[in-house]
Amino acid sequence: MNTDQGLTWPPRTAGLTLGREVRTLLDVVGPVLHVTAAAIWRPDGLRKRYLKYLSAMHGVIRASVPLMELAASRCADTGRKRLREYFDEHIEEEQHHDEWLREDLRLLGSDLDSAPSPTVARLVGAQYYWVSHHDPVCLLGYIAVLEGNSPAPTLAGELAARTGFSSDAFRTLHHHAVVDTEHSRAVYDLLDELPATAGQRQAVRVSALQTVAGLADLFHEIAREPAAGGKWTR
Ligand SMILES: [Fe+2]
Ligand SMILES: [Fe+2]
Repeated sequence: MNTDQGLTWPPRTAGLTLGREVRTLLDVVGPVLHVTAAAIWRPDGLRKRYLKYLSAMHGVIRASVPLMELAASRCADTGRKRLREYFDEHIEEEQHHDEWLREDLRLLGSDLDSAPSPTVARLVGAQYYWVSHHDPVCLLGYIAVLEGNSPAPTLAGELAARTGFSSDAFRTLHHHAVVDTEHSRAVYDLLDELPATAGQRQAVRVSALQTVAGLADLFHEIAREPAAGGKWTR
């Protein structure tokens, strides 16, 4: 066990609910997302980066409802009533958010004609693999990270001022700043109450860690704009 610089790895989680366990884990590794996200919003080249951010998030969010539908169907196969109820409810809350992003991009005169980057495919694709071939509970680790790292409530207004873009082009960003705190609470409430085997707990942890790593890669990719040449910059 490494205790360098006061950190303990892996964090001590014995006796915790799964929700507390995931929170404890993300308290340690989650700050990397704050750092990489902050680099996206630096002033130089911000207008171009905001467009890239919207396109990348569209690539991620377009899969949210289909992933939960897949997970809900896998719950039906395995008799997981409570987990299925959660997915069914959350599907309703996330409907059409990809269309909102497309509309925000359209307002800015941008389209989505280029393919999502391999970084998006890695982030989202891992969940299709785990849900399809292992256990639908894995998706909770992904949701916990995404819902727990929504934009700050003031960000949409600040970006509108800094970019000079119409505030209408920040509708999706603003909506997530408002509602994702509640979505985050809901997924952790579920994790706290859900009976889970040691293997399922591990699967949720691995999914959450993979999502932090994948999202940090994606934020880093966006933060590298503007860069010379190529649709995808790494
Ligand atoms: Fe959403
Ligand atoms: Fe959400």
